[in-house]
Amino acid sequence: MAEVSSETRFLHAIEMGLGAWQWGDRTTWQYGNSYDENDLHKVFNVSMEEGIQFVDTAEVYGSGVSERMLGKFIKETEHPVLIATKYFPYPWRLRNSSIPRALKNSLERIGVDSADLYQTHWPTPLMSIDRMMDGMIECVKQELTRTVGISNFSQSQMLTAYSALARQNIPLASNQVHYSLLNRRIEKNGLLARCKELGIRLIAYSPLEQGLLTGKYNANKRPPGTRGGTLAGLLPKIEPLIRLMTSIGQDHGGKSNSQVALNWTICKGALPIPGAKNVRQAQENAGALGWKLTEEEVTQLDEASDQIAGE
Ligand SMILES: NC(=O)c1ccc[n+]([C@@H]2O[C@H](COP(=O)([O-])OP(=O)(O)OC[C@H]3O[C@@H](n4cnc5c(N)ncnc54)[C@H](OP(=O)(O)O)[C@@H]3O)[C@@H](O)[C@H]2O)c1
Repeated sequence: MAEVSSETRFLHAIEMGLGAWQWGDRTTWQYGNSYDENDLHKVFNVSMEEGIQFVDTAEVYGSGVSERMLGKFIKETEHPVLIATKYFPYPWRLRNSSIPRALKNSLERIGVDSADLYQTHWPTPLMSIDRMMDGMIECVKQELTRTVGISNFSQSQMLTAYSALARQNIPLASNQVHYSLLNRRIEKNGLLARCKELGIRLIAYSPLEQGLLTGKYNANKRPPGTRGGTLAGLLPKIEPLIRLMTSIGQDHGGKSNSQVALNWTICKGALPIPGAKNVRQAQENAGALGWKLTEEEVTQLDEASDQIAGE
């Protein structure tokens, strides 16, 4: 394992963060129907009180609403907050100078002078990785961000980004990718191992598989909205895994399925960033910290997850 650079070490000390895609998003999450800003303010406050200080947002979440909300919540808290946000190169923002400009706009919405982590949201054939990284390097030079991350990059794309940054002595801080008990592609294709080898923090998004791993959805009770369609294929297959998670949780004094799912990602060496819509969910997710699954339990969960023909 490579020595983690001093600039990015703080990310390796964070066990869990809070995802903010839900903040203002109506399409996937139905913001404004079953939950509102008041609920999210409580989600934020309880997470901070529980010691979760790292919030992951993006300029596209709620078309800027998520970043604005984060800014409001930060103003009203005493807790120090670590901010991660993201850039996506829409077709009209393909120059490397577009990136610092996009970050300045994000920072204005959040109301801070710099971010702790700035990530490119997705790779795109419309912009080379070298050019993207040139833009990110500029953000560091202008002190608009402390560190640089990527998201949804494959292993070879990640190595290209890593080398481009290294030429300017900038470490690649993180790669944020889909990782959960129902999506272990990064374990199987070697990306997780490569991140550990290079000292890159693997940030796990959708660690609860968008609510499926909580056990509250099944073939007869689909999640609302678009998730009912996108997750439909997994729903009939997950029951044995959920049953095992519940039984393992009981052996740990009544830990919930969500807590087992999040603890599993932590045991694998990743940093999960679950989203929450209300204070009950946030409080429950925070209970994934402070205890550990045994190696044997992790193996049992791996085996049960292997039985499900997901990714
Ligand atoms: N970089 C990327 O491309 C990318 C992509 C996706 C996500 N992300 C980031 O990762 C974060 C997390 O991923 P995600 O939001 O997709 O999915 P997730 O964290 O796996 O699931 C979040 C959803 O699960 C349900 N939930 C959460 N905690 C619960 C609990 N304790 N009990 C019952 N239900 C609970 C809630 O929805 P319901 O109550 O409606 O079921 C919540 O909205 C996002 O907020 C975002 O910051 C990044």
